[in-house]
Parts: sequence; C-alpha cells; structure tokens
Amino acid sequence: MLKRIPVTDVTLGMYIHAIEGPWLAQPFWRPRFRLTSIDQLAELQHSKVKAVVIDLARSNTPPKADMATRVRRAQTRAAIERRAADFRAARHLTNDARNVMRGAFDAANRGEIPNSVEIDSVVQSITQALDRNRSMLLGMMRLKKSDSYTYFHSVAVGTLMINFARELGLPEEEVRMMGLGGLFHDIGKIRIAKTVLNKPGKLSAEEWDEMRRHPEMGHALLLDGDVPPTALDVCLHHHEKVDGSGYPFGLAGDQISLAARMGAICDVYDALTSERPYKDACAPVAAVAAMASWAGHFDPDLLFIFMKSVCVFPVGMLVRLRSGHLAMIRDNGRQTNRARLSVFYDIAEQRLLPPSELFLSDIDVSAAILESPDPLAYGLENWPTIKETLLEGLDPTAP
Ligand SMILES: [Fe+2]
Ligand SMILES: [Fe+2]
Repeated sequence: MLKRIPVTDVTLGMYIHAIEGPWLAQPFWRPRFRLTSIDQLAELQHSKVKAVVIDLARSNTPPKADMATRVRRAQTRAAIERRAADFRAARHLTNDARNVMRGAFDAANRGEIPNSVEIDSVVQSITQALDRNRSMLLGMMRLKKSDSYTYFHSVAVGTLMINFARELGLPEEEVRMMGLGGLFHDIGKIRIAKTVLNKPGKLSAEEWDEMRRHPEMGHALLLDGDVPPTALDVCLHHHEKVDGSGYPFGLAGDQISLAARMGAICDVYDALTSERPYKDACAPVAAVAAMASWAGHFDPDLLFIFMKSVCVFPVGMLVRLRSGHLAMIRDNGRQTNRARLSVFYDIAEQRLLPPSELFLSDIDVSAAILESPDPLAYGLENWPTIKETLLEGLDPTAP
C-alpha cells in the first residue's frame, strides 16, 4: 500500500516509493529505495523535497513504537539536528572567512598595509568550529567554488594549519600564528595575471616563472604590516621541499622552518583534495598516500602527524616507530574512530615478530612515528606477501 507523507515524518527503515518535487531538487540518484542511514535521512530532511510516497508493505518500521523505539527515534532526530546545525555553522563560517580573505587580499592589492586583527577573528572562529565538529569542518573545506578558489583555498589551508598545530600540541599563540600563515600563504597570487592563475592547461615556461614568484611577492606585500614572522615565513617558504628542490630559495631540511614545512603539507593536501576546472578532487586517503610516496618533498615525520590530524591513514602503509619496530596501518579507524597499527618487525634484530596491535590514539605521535619507510631499505623483499598476511590478521612468522 502506498501512502504520501511529509518528509518530517520519514523515519529510518521506510521504503521510499517516490519523491515529490522537481527531479533536480532530489538528493538521491535512485528513485526507489529503503532509507537505512542517518545521513540519507538528514539529506532528505534538509533538501527542498516536501513530501514522499512510501510503500508500507516494503517498509520495516514497527507499527506501534514501544518506549525504547521512541527514545531511539528521538535520539536519531537529535543527532540529525545536531549534524545539520554543525553543517550550517561550518558553511556559514567558510563563506564568512572566504569574504574576509577576499577583503584582505583586495586591500593588499590596493596597496593598503595588511593588518591581522580581522584575520585573527577568522583564526578564532576556525579554532572554535574545529572544537565543535572537526570532521564536518575539514570536510566542508574540500567544497570550493572555482570562481573564488584562491580565497577558499586560503581558508582551507589556514584551517588545516590550526588543526595540525594543535595535533602537535603547540602553544595557543603559535597555533594562531600558524593559522595566519595558512590564511595569508598565497596572498602573492593577487599579483599574478588571472590568465595564468586560472589557466586550465599546463603553464608555459614563462607562465611558470611568473607563478613561482608568488611567495616572494606575497612576503613583500605582508612585510609592512603587523603579520607575525611565523606567518611571513609560511608565505615565503611554503613551496620549499626538504630535499632542496623547491622554490624560491631551494632551502633543505631544517633550513625550512617548522611552520613552512607544515604549510607545504597543508597546501598540497588541500590542492590535491579540491576539484579544479582541469582536474577531479583526489580522495583524502589517496592524497596522503601519494604525498607519502614523493620522497624528498615533505618532512616525513610531520606528514605522518598531519595524517593523524585529519584522521586519514592509508591502510597497508608501512611506518617506523621510535621503539625500533616497523608497523603497518591495519585499520584506518573510520568505523571505530580508533586507527590501529600492527607492529610486526624488530629493526635491530632484523626479524619478523608475531604481530601485536597498537592504537594510534595511544601513541604520542610527535615522539613515536619517525617516517614512512621503504620496505626494501629493511630487507623486506617479500613485503607484498607480509602485507597481505597482516591485513588478513594472520601471523607472518607462522610456518
Ligand atoms: Fe603557493
Ligand atoms: Fe597554496
């Protein structure tokens, strides 16, 4: 039997037979389906759809709700409301911050001396929003409108920097300066011709030369204002690479400040995970896995801590622990919120161990994880087999 009901009465388990309203307003690609997740329900209730037709025979909601069911439904509704409120707050913050950054970039372009007071309020709002719902805000940062890409990208890198600095346990004042660094890092791009900045294809050698000047041009723009030195540093050095092959100065290793090494990671991660007119967005896990494979580009210690800060771990990735062991990421923690490692190799003794489990949340990452090493450097020629064995939860030392 079919029944038309308002979307506000829809509950989990109902079989949606038809969705009323224009096709474009519909949040789902399937015309008929059973509603099984809170996310689907939240999406439906916050879409423009007003009513749906449900198939009562195929719906598996209990006819009369007992007390426990009613409590559960109320909790589900409350969870949906909370998530929707967090979503609205995150969208609001992102748009506001984007506008502030546009204003700051335009003012600098007119030759006004930049002041960081207004930008400080953006840092504060981001910090509070991260406390409220970190994953929602980080997810929101990946949605960018291409016409304002540079401003959205600035807000995203600022957010990633604040989140990263807090993961490192830095004092609040340094967290603030890192945030400012992220927000201002690409301000030099206002001096780059729009045709070069938004060119969909590959840049010519001359265009590339122009593009590579944006860190120094940004630094020069900020120098007269009250932007703190750490933030100036991120602006000037966010394209340096730890092996010395970056620009503008080809600095290497510790010559690049902590803030600039962090900025390089946040900048590339955001660029990879954003959609552009000329490329699709890369999934976060693919982005961090690709970044870990670019030897010499990023500080590997920091890259691992960054992965922890965004809760993105590529399953099967090899990591070295300060305890002198090798471990593999066994579980990214998406289901359980607790990412897990399998510790399986003693480096000094060069031997496999029966695997033992370690939760990443139990490790002081700044002290425990050294790098993402190359299996061959440890003589693990049969790494693909060991990896498969560990992923299956078996013991690679077993005969
Ligand atoms: Fe840049
Ligand atoms: Fe950038």
